[in-house]
Parts: sequence; structure tokens; C-alpha cells
Amino acid sequence: MRDFIQPRRNFLKSAGSVATFALLPSAVLLSGCQEDTTKTTPEESGLDDGPFDVELTLFARPDVAAILSGSASEVWRYTAKLIKGPADTLTHSDDSYIGPLIRLRRGQRVRVHIENHLTEATTVHWHGLHVPPEVDGQPRFPIQPDATRTVSFLVDDRAGLYWYHPHPHGDDGGRVGFQSYAGLAGPLIIEDNHERELDLPKDNQELVIVLQDRNFTGENELKYLSDGMGSMMTRMQGFKGDHLLVNGKPAEVKTALATTYRLRILNGSNARIYKLAWSDGRPVTVIGTDGGLLESPEEHAYVALAPAQRIDLWVSFEGDPEGTEIQLINEPHRAGDMMDGGMMGNLMGGSDNTSDKPTPLLTMAVSGATERAVPPLPGRLSSDLDRLSQPGNTANIRQFRLSMKMMRGFAINDRQFEGVTVADDEVVSLGATEVWEFFNDTTMPHPMHVHGLQFRVVSRKNADARSARQLMAGIVDSGLHDTVLVLPGERVRIAMTFKDFEGLYLYHCHNMEHEDNGMMRYYEVRK
Ligand code: C2O
Ligand code: CU
Ligand code: CU
Repeated sequence: MRDFIQPRRNFLKSAGSVATFALLPSAVLLSGCQEDTTKTTPEESGLDDGPFDVELTLFARPDVAAILSGSASEVWRYTAKLIKGPADTLTHSDDSYIGPLIRLRRGQRVRVHIENHLTEATTVHWHGLHVPPEVDGQPRFPIQPDATRTVSFLVDDRAGLYWYHPHPHGDDGGRVGFQSYAGLAGPLIIEDNHERELDLPKDNQELVIVLQDRNFTGENELKYLSDGMGSMMTRMQGFKGDHLLVNGKPAEVKTALATTYRLRILNGSNARIYKLAWSDGRPVTVIGTDGGLLESPEEHAYVALAPAQRIDLWVSFEGDPEGTEIQLINEPHRAGDMMDGGMMGNLMGGSDNTSDKPTPLLTMAVSGATERAVPPLPGRLSSDLDRLSQPGNTANIRQFRLSMKMMRGFAINDRQFEGVTVADDEVVSLGATEVWEFFNDTTMPHPMHVHGLQFRVVSRKNADARSARQLMAGIVDSGLHDTVLVLPGERVRIAMTFKDFEGLYLYHCHNMEHEDNGMMRYYEVRK
């Protein structure tokens, strides 16, 4: 099995990986399937010319990083070098494989040189950003090993937490799951003036948290898919690891002041859905989602966070005495399992050994007061939402049925990924606002993602599966999203406007194993 990351020095390091990847000639692997994509990718695309406010080089390369205690692990990771722009544009994560935090401001013109030092082709996708197709990192624009591609774009998104990750896919299936798992992913924050005026917790009180799960060999090497039955099961369920990692490390204890914190959390896992809560039962205060701040804060007993989704939390330790330890925990649930954790799941042993008791992700140890006065949480966080992606009286509803293709993964309207091929019902008009309905006709949850925009969740119906009840109360549907969790049996409607850019974009399930195995299609925006 090609994706089994074997013990030391075998798979991730360039020299050793030749044998593995030789099974997948890169031309085949990343051609994007159709003839017209075999032509070479232009080296630069995006804005016509400078000046640019931010310019940086992003490197994708093999490396070693300490993850568990003991020997370091082979990884693939992003590193970056700032050529031009504000000094706080990049926050490096030297001791973790997580890509540098990229901090951009709305209105900036940004240029990125992407250098591929991997042994196979890759792309860099700006997840959640409203950018033209040519700079969106789609599989039809692969960057070959040792090649560089430059993209530039105008930052025109609401302030929020976004992220970047690879998006390669060829005749043989996708490599998103493998490459992300190997370590290629990083957070991206967009700021704007409105958000700054709110005086939300910042600097040491703003924590950016990337959640992932991994499996390891006895020698601390990353282990992805294994042979045989287990691998088939993983392709159907998606990969879940026994170790929950926070920013590429095991959970840690953090000294906190008795003040307010902002936790900006990205689920960068391949397939795991998190159920996040506070260990002392205090409500989870949500201030933002994928597309930035909500209109006003919302309290939930827990929040559900599916792969690729982000959640922005606010918490106050103001009244907590020194010595208190409060944990952000992942609560057990079986919602990611096929057959709802029923017979099939039990028979196959599942892959989710961590799910029987709550797992701490972060421990905040309150150590004393601050000198600074603690600003209260504003009751109103934003006021632009009712102008964005509103369904209005949109009469036509485009249906997308999510179904299973026996032993071949999952499909959207009975179709699987076919490269740049677009069906008649996958063409939308530039400027139009549409309502799409995802109907989940399978026994597994699917986090559905639409490229190039942020949408609103209009309605959610028929969640009757057992798994739905385990997560339902934690699903945050208000605000703007680029990824929406569709539970078994559910019909979820979203509304969005296709503005500014013509051309092809992807929509897919962000369970990366589902995506890689064909649960992905292009849609086209036409004038
Ligand atoms: Cu994170 Cu196609 O996307
Ligand atoms: Cu995306
Ligand atoms: Cu899926």
C-alpha cells in the first residue's frame, strides 16, 4: 500500500521515498486527468502587476520534527521567508511541523512564490479565501518537484482564521490526505479595521490552535494507511489517529492569567470531528466561524468542529482563583463512524480508540491576575452579515445527493471526480445567489466544502441518526462558512453568491480520504 509511512528513513525522506512514489509517476499522479492539463502550468498568475504589499516565499519540503518525546519524526512541512511586508506577517513554528502562521490584512495585495522541494507534485490551496481560480491551488495547476509557481491576489475576505494546504489529485486519486498528514498545513489570519476596534484579546491572549490526529510506529514515525482490510475501512471512514495533537504536539499545560482569551481553532485533521467543551462545564462562547465574526456571541454546551472548519472562541478566567486548571476537552462521540458506530463499526474495530473518554487538548493553569483592565466581550461583533450571501427569495434549489459507491468511496449526485469535467447542473452564473441542498444519503457524516466563497447555512433538516443527536447541539450554523457538516440523513441548505471571478472551482467533502477517493467535483462560474 503506497501510503503506509514505514519505519525510519523509508517514506517521507526524499531518498527513501523513491520506491514508494515510483508507483505513481508524477505526470500521471497530478495531471488532473484531462488532456488539456498536461500542458505546463504558467509560472505566475494572479494580479497583473505590483506593487505588492506583501511578498513571501513558501517552501514545501521534507524535514524532521519533534512530535512525541524521544526521537524526531520525518515530516513534510511548510516554511516561509518574508521578502516584503509588515514584520508580523509570518510567525514561524520552528519546533513544530505546522506551517508558519500567515497574518494578512484586508486590502493587501499579496504575492507568494511557492517552491516545491518534495518528491512529488503539489499545490497550495488558500482554504476559504475569495481568490480567482488560477491562484486557488487547484489540482489542475500542479507544481512539479523542484519547480516554483508564483501566485498573487488581493485580500478581500472578512477578518477571520483561514488556512492553507496542498490539493493535488490525479488519475490515481488525490494526495491531499497523504500530504496534509505528512505535515503540510498552516493557519492564515486575516485582520481588518473593524475587528481591531473591538479590542478582542490579542498578543499572548490570542491562541491559534491547529487540531490534528496521528498514528505513530514504535520509532515515532508517522503511520498513515496500512495494508488490507484496515486500509479499505480507512478509505471509507477516513483516517483517524490515536494521538490528538495540538499545533503538532501532544496536549500541553499553558500558564494563563485570570483574564480573557481568544482561542482560534482550526480542525486540520483528515477526518476526525471534534466535540469541544470546557472540563468544568462552563459554556463554550463562540464569537466566530470559518468566515469571521458572528453578529453576536453564542453560547453552547459544546461545539462540533468538522475537518477544515474553524471556530473562534472567547473565554474568561477572570473569576477563577489562582491554581485553577481548566481544560479544553474533546468529548467522546461515535459520529464519525460508518453505520453510526453500530455493528459494522464494532466488527471492524473502528479506528477510533480515543473515543471512550474525554481527551484534554489544552490545559489552562490560572496563575494570577493581569495588570491590564479586562475588556468585556462586546454584545455585537459585526454588522455586515445581513448583506452577505442572503438567499433572498431564491426559488431554485440545486440538489446534491451524497451517496456511496460500493467499495469505491462516495459520490456527489452519483458522480465522482473527473478532473475538469463539469456537468450541466454544475454550472452557475456569475453574480447569481443560489441555494444548494446537500442531502446525505449515506451512514457517514460529510463536511461539505465549496471553494472560492463563504456561504450561509439556511436550514438543516432530518437529522435522525444516532450520531446526529451526539453532535447536533454543538453545530454552529450562524455566521459565514466555507465548510458545513452534513450528518447522516440530513438535508442542509446553504446560500451563496458567485461574485467577481469566472471559471472552475472545486466543491467536495473535506474528509480528506473521501475527497481523495473521488467525493469531489468542479463547478463552473460562467458569465
Ligand atoms: Cu481545504 Cu478543497 O479544500
Ligand atoms: Cu478550499
Ligand atoms: Cu465525506
